[in-house]
Amino acid sequence: GKKDEAPAPAAAPSAQAPAPAGDKLKIGFVYVSPIGDGGWTFQHELGRKAIQEKFGDKIETSMVESVPESADAERVMRDMAGQGKKLIFATSFGYQEFVQKVAGDLKDVNFEHATGYKTGDNVAVYDTKTFEGAYLAGIVAGAMTKTKTVGVVASVPIPEVVRNINSFVLGAQSVDPSIKAKVVWVNEWFAPPKESEAATSLINGGVDVMYQNTNSPAVLKTAEERGVRAFGKDGDMSAFAPKAHLGSAVIDWTPYYTKVVEDKLAGKWQTGNFWWGVKEGAIDLKKIADDVPQEVKDKVEKARAGLKDGSFAVWTGPIKDNTGKELLAAGSVADDAFLRGINFYVNGIEGTVPG
Ligand code: GUN
Repeated sequence: GKKDEAPAPAAAPSAQAPAPAGDKLKIGFVYVSPIGDGGWTFQHELGRKAIQEKFGDKIETSMVESVPESADAERVMRDMAGQGKKLIFATSFGYQEFVQKVAGDLKDVNFEHATGYKTGDNVAVYDTKTFEGAYLAGIVAGAMTKTKTVGVVASVPIPEVVRNINSFVLGAQSVDPSIKAKVVWVNEWFAPPKESEAATSLINGGVDVMYQNTNSPAVLKTAEERGVRAFGKDGDMSAFAPKAHLGSAVIDWTPYYTKVVEDKLAGKWQTGNFWWGVKEGAIDLKKIADDVPQEVKDKVEKARAGLKDGSFAVWTGPIKDNTGKELLAAGSVADDAFLRGINFYVNGIEGTVPG
């Protein structure tokens, strides 16, 4: 795994010590939406089950679902620590301040915060390069749109989400540079009725292929009802919309969760900033629809292979924002600092990033 930062000085010995023989390592997972969301949280839950299966009686895992990004998260994490959990996975961006607060008080617990950027002696952050999945989906979208207008139902305006929207559009424009895109924000991670409404307004605006950065299959279901196309995200959502489904950009958290548990059991847990992608098997576009032409599937495979062997990067210039300003020169490849700070829409996307 890639580390962006040097390891921090060792935390208090108690946080590093391997669990005494016979003692199970207790691990807690905090989820922002229900495990039945079919997407983001469902995939974390698959990861939890996979490590429970793999490490057997060495560990004991549990989870709390539908925990808002508020003081509720702090209460849940303190409660988990009180139950003896020494490793806590907080799986949504908005938990960040609460993780910082609780981790500052409880130095003998290791925290893993998904999609955040604030690390600490006992806090690591991790994410998946979901933008690579978005780009692969974009290739399919670019080939399948007839209106030459694709759309995204966006969740919470943080760089991760803006990067995903742009990456989807860059994928579509790799097929046809004239493609335009529309975005509707719902300002929540999991709000199926609002997600559907947003999808409806995109369709009414001429969009015929949609992506989303929300947690539920509502966008796909709306596409199914309206006879347009859409993608699954985070989980395999093909079953929710057999006709509309064009593919699912599926996250696999299991490799990372396995690594963290191995490290912790060996007394080698470390902080850092982990960001795994196609290369590490953390994300891929799966179940591409049968009616997508073979040449398009080949194009996806070529990009996937390039991401795997490092010969291709989604964010390679020239890239201009939607005011025409060049932000990445021809041939230059964005570094992680650029990627983490994306706060603009690429050329072809209507509107401005909320801010
Ligand atoms: N769903 C809930 N929280 C998050 C998050 O932080 N990132 C993404 N991609 N989806 C989420």
